[in-house]
Amino acid sequence: MSDIEARLDDLRASGLYRRMRHVSGPQGSRVVLDGRPVLLLCSNNYLGLADHPRVREAAADAAMRWGAGAGASRLVSGTMTIHRRLEEALATFKGTESSVLFGSGYLANLGVVGALARLGGAGGPSGSVVFSDELNHASIIDGCRLARAETFVYDHCDVEHLAWGLRHKLGPPNHRAGVIVTDSVFSMDGDVAPLEEIVELAHRHGVRTVVDEAHGTGCLGPGGRGAVADAGLEGHVDVVVGTLGKALGAYGAFAACSAEMRDYLTNSARSLIFSTALPPPAVAAALAALEVLQEHPEMVDRLQANADAIRDELAREGFEVAGSSTQIVPLVVGDADLAMRVCETAIEGGVFAQAIRPPTVPDGTSRLRLALMATHTREELRAAARTLGRAALQAGFRPGAGVPVAAAQPAGHPEERVVAPLAGEDTAAAAA
Ligand SMILES: Cc1ncc(COP(=O)(O)O)c(C=O)c1O
Repeated sequence: MSDIEARLDDLRASGLYRRMRHVSGPQGSRVVLDGRPVLLLCSNNYLGLADHPRVREAAADAAMRWGAGAGASRLVSGTMTIHRRLEEALATFKGTESSVLFGSGYLANLGVVGALARLGGAGGPSGSVVFSDELNHASIIDGCRLARAETFVYDHCDVEHLAWGLRHKLGPPNHRAGVIVTDSVFSMDGDVAPLEEIVELAHRHGVRTVVDEAHGTGCLGPGGRGAVADAGLEGHVDVVVGTLGKALGAYGAFAACSAEMRDYLTNSARSLIFSTALPPPAVAAALAALEVLQEHPEMVDRLQANADAIRDELAREGFEVAGSSTQIVPLVVGDADLAMRVCETAIEGGVFAQAIRPPTVPDGTSRLRLALMATHTREELRAAARTLGRAALQAGFRPGAGVPVAAAQPAGHPEERVVAPLAGEDTAAAAA
């Protein structure tokens, strides 16, 4: 047996083997999954814009006008008109001076965290200390790893722990630079970071802030402008990362920030410098999606009303859903195999909510991660909650008996707690 086969067997034995399911047709609220019609309850296409007629048309028109691909990194073959347009529109939407596009949210976090980690304080060792929530997305964790940044991982949403880290890791005032990085809406739990306290701490300690609005953009706040806007913090966060492949239905990502920060990222973010620019159809699709969202902010209200509705229905079935306040609703099962069984049984009943297992979530907290869409109907959600309740019982799980998320061990990060500070690297020179 090869080492690859052996590893795959291990994954199967521990209930962690993954495979891709086949979906026919576009990512609507109903899809045909491996030949079976189901209600899709796990897509980040929260507003249903991925197959909106105007968004599709914009992508098709852009392909005809500007071509299918961007050809190279924008630092090599230039920025196209459509990139500029989207960046201006995103900066206006997010209330920042500027914005810069990245190939994906994963690449944006890798690039932004790495670039900010390289900034050094006045008198201390080179490189910033990164302060990162233990449940941050894998791309933030990998950004810390790749930067070899000294990283302080604070307990989930625990501002007292964060304050302790800031006091103990930065040294005397102005000695060491720091950056706090957090998801705004946590992708697997649907809770929201305490952004006001985080920004207040950042100001008090003179460190920068990065907020990843992958699941906030288009979903929360006035007109879907995100959790930062919802908290009244526009202009108070150094970099807001947003994605174009979730609520905006296309592909790619952006960092909304000051013009100076944009200039710095353009010169330092390696995932921007060394990667081909977003293709025109994806950029045009995101621009059209943003226009649709701005013309129809009621979509955001519908999304959140749907999330409230399914939480009510699920609570009636006995599920514990109080931890979520957004469009992401986790049904924590605990054991990975059991979560898969609940998922498969629900699919047989016509509801697709993918089971999420370690290392995406902490050990012992495997779950069905429900992601609502504005285009789901109340009747669909009522029926889905009943199906999920029945599926849980049939699979041998009593709804509500899952391990509370806060009691579980974190999945990511621990090894970064003691990573050496980073020596500066001249990335811009390397690109030229
Ligand atoms: C919080 C968060 N940040 C970043 C990403 C990565 O975004 P993308 O899918 O555009 O690479 C995700 C993806 O799921 C996410 O949940």
